[in-house]
Amino acid sequence: MDKVVLAYSGGLDTSCAVKWLKDRYGYEVICFSAFIGEVSDKKILEKRAKAAGASKVYIMDLKEEFVKDFVTPALWAHARYEGKYLMATSLGRPLIAKHLVDIAHKEGAKYVAHGCTGKGNDQVRIEVGIRSLDASLKILAPLREWEFATREEEIEYAKENNIPIAATKKSLYSIDKNIWGIAIEAGILEDPWVEPPEDAFVMTKPLSEVSAKPAYVTIDFEKGHAVALNGKKMKFVDLIEKLNEIAGDYCIGRVDQIENRVVGIKSREVYEAPAGTVLVAAHEELESMIFDREYLHYKRLISERYAELVYYGLWFTPLKEAMDAFIALHQDKVTGTIKMKLDKGNLIVAGRKSPHALYSESLATYSTGDTFDRTSAEGFIKLWGLPYEKTLGRKI
Ligand code: ARG
Repeated sequence: MDKVVLAYSGGLDTSCAVKWLKDRYGYEVICFSAFIGEVSDKKILEKRAKAAGASKVYIMDLKEEFVKDFVTPALWAHARYEGKYLMATSLGRPLIAKHLVDIAHKEGAKYVAHGCTGKGNDQVRIEVGIRSLDASLKILAPLREWEFATREEEIEYAKENNIPIAATKKSLYSIDKNIWGIAIEAGILEDPWVEPPEDAFVMTKPLSEVSAKPAYVTIDFEKGHAVALNGKKMKFVDLIEKLNEIAGDYCIGRVDQIENRVVGIKSREVYEAPAGTVLVAAHEELESMIFDREYLHYKRLISERYAELVYYGLWFTPLKEAMDAFIALHQDKVTGTIKMKLDKGNLIVAGRKSPHALYSESLATYSTGDTFDRTSAEGFIKLWGLPYEKTLGRKI
């Protein structure tokens, strides 16, 4: 019997997809679930997949791999899609694609499947990811194919087929969450005039509940990696989780964005990324202490392009790989400490230091101890402005 490996979340869509793939195509269905945020009960997830008809279930804790191979390069790149979105969701998809392909190879499966809808970016990311790794695999997307038009019809199908569905109340929104952040969409948020209600937020406290007293956090970076929070050394996963709590309590990292999707439509998205927001800002600040003007200005261009590639699902591509190499080249110099002030939803850089700083107080000072050679300024300015000197008769 042909096998299909399905990216399985345990929700209604993918639970129905297990049964549907079996009935429609007669394939043996192998489920794969990745934990890259909260770790839910593996036993329950496995039971649910099996009850829906899965022959085998892979449940993998991939948080470490996610932060090492996907979050870290994006953090180094200062990648924010359209200047805002830190792309927690976008970064998770190539990881899922990679493991779907690995499991398909291991199982000798010719097919892989996912539960993305036909209107979003995630289908693009997963499918382009899969094809970049192994174009011989055939991809199935039940949600684009099947006959159910509404959620109610899916529930009906689940009931008829004894597919267990989670008892939890359906959220008013469509959410996707991992350690790097959460995406919240649909429901009332589809009206761009409506301010997101407080019940839409998951990782951040409402501003009205934030302490009036600001908090300070320090982040130590070593060779580009955030290694300590408030002076305490910890693993990157733990650091992100702790910082999500601290910055979330100060309502840091909310974004409300009209976004240009890959599939051509504009959508209104609400995001939260408390730790990510602090870490990207801190890393950016540290680099601004260390690198020269030309490098920094060029890096800004790279950041924008890098974010587009990630968002567009072009993770396993030559340009993305080349950009990673460019960005990684000088990370060994990115060592130092950034002090951030969290103040009622505002993130403020409060201090920076680095053993590799190009910043020199003695060159910058307007007080005693100045080492800047003012006498060379005159000649420099003469030559700098030479091409633009306006003389009589000059036309431009
Ligand atoms: N618009 C965001 C993105 O494309 C978030 C998508 C959220 N996905 C989801 N399955 N709810 O990355």
